Amino acid sequence: MAAISLAGISKRFADGTLAVADLHLDIDDGELLALVGPSGCGKSTVLRILAGLETPTTGEVTIEGRVVTDMAPGDRDLAIVFQDYALYPHLSAYQNLAFGLKAKRIGRKAIDHRVRAVAALLGIEPLLHRKPRALSGGERQRVAMGRAIVRQPSAFLMDEPLSNLDAKLRVALRSEIRRLHRELGATFLYVTHDQTEALTIGDRVAVLRRGRLQQLDHPQRLYQAPANVFVAGFIGTPPMNLLVAHVQLDDGDRVARAGPWSIPVPAQVTSDKIVVGIRPEHFGADPFTAGFGRAPTVELTVTEVETLGGVSLLHFDVDAQPVSVRDDETPDVPFSLGDSGSTLIAAVDARVDAIPGSLLAIALDTSRVCFFDFETGEAVVSGDPSVRRLR
Ligand SMILES: Nc1ncnc2c1ncn2[C@@H]1O[C@H](COP(=O)(O)OP(=O)(O)OP(=O)(O)O)[C@@H](O)[C@H]1O
Ligand SMILES: [Mg+2]
Repeated sequence: MAAISLAGISKRFADGTLAVADLHLDIDDGELLALVGPSGCGKSTVLRILAGLETPTTGEVTIEGRVVTDMAPGDRDLAIVFQDYALYPHLSAYQNLAFGLKAKRIGRKAIDHRVRAVAALLGIEPLLHRKPRALSGGERQRVAMGRAIVRQPSAFLMDEPLSNLDAKLRVALRSEIRRLHRELGATFLYVTHDQTEALTIGDRVAVLRRGRLQQLDHPQRLYQAPANVFVAGFIGTPPMNLLVAHVQLDDGDRVARAGPWSIPVPAQVTSDKIVVGIRPEHFGADPFTAGFGRAPTVELTVTEVETLGGVSLLHFDVDAQPVSVRDDETPDVPFSLGDSGSTLIAAVDARVDAIPGSLLAIALDTSRVCFFDFETGEAVVSGDPSVRRLR
């Protein structure tokens, strides 16, 4: 049974803003679910509704089999970790950890035992005597996490807990949160606007757009088989290349013409116009195209080169209409179309010799291309045969 269940949750604020729309979301017992989406899509509102800090306009919240929709936050047995730590500045790290337990009327010895065990789990024993102002950002975040853990709640809700930290520390604490999750075996809801963070931390990831759930899936499936154009463009950096393609007959075979490419179309594609999605790494340049099979190759002029170390991002222009999803659009508009020319990005082996102006033979692994409906933006065929889903 799901540890946490949101059934038909919506939230309309007094000023008319619809922050969450008919959300159904089940978080399994012991699961770490990441909730991701652009700024303002309703992530914090969902978390606050779960925590009891906000009342939903419609729907029901269930935690561990109990309906808690009208229950006070303190009765829900949840711990919340926010971005801004919210530690008591005048108390030491030790006292911050012990604070919530004192209110629970737990004996001094038992409190001391628990505080030290949690401090050991987080590696903050040497810092326990310090006040928050004498701690670094990462250390404060560990104390804030510790304060949630000592209470032994049935579930943890985290709202962008790492976003005040520098990039390196964020990556380190990310794996620490995963380790904590494994060791505690508790249910976690982890809110972030950073799709990389969501993919690396979540057992499953829920993608929200303008208060509406777009896809709930395992990270690999979200990446390889996005359910619609929005998810395709939101998940992955650099993003998936999205183009309008025209389906034509070529020697009796149906192919999608997208810029200079002819991509074989699966039988599920029945319309004349379609949106194709190509991940940057599904382009290649000689001689680094091993595993591409019989990939068609097109000569293209590189306009820009970004070197990332192991891979280089090559930009090139093709004659095809680009597709994108704007943040300010209502979800009823699945995507918008750009002018006739598209700048595509290929992620190729950095040993490929390229400078702006180079003419390169660019190969496309057509077996990995995603197809989306031109009217609805929904996936028709996902790009990876091993995760292929037909609709
Ligand atoms: N009290 C409120 N009254 C009116 N509108 C609100 C209120 N709180 C939030 N909103 C609006 O609801 C929408 C969702 O807000 P929310 O804070 O849940 O977004 P978010 O996904 O957490 O964004 P971010 O990534 O920036 O934290 C936004 O449009 C926001 O302006
Ligand atoms: Mg938020």
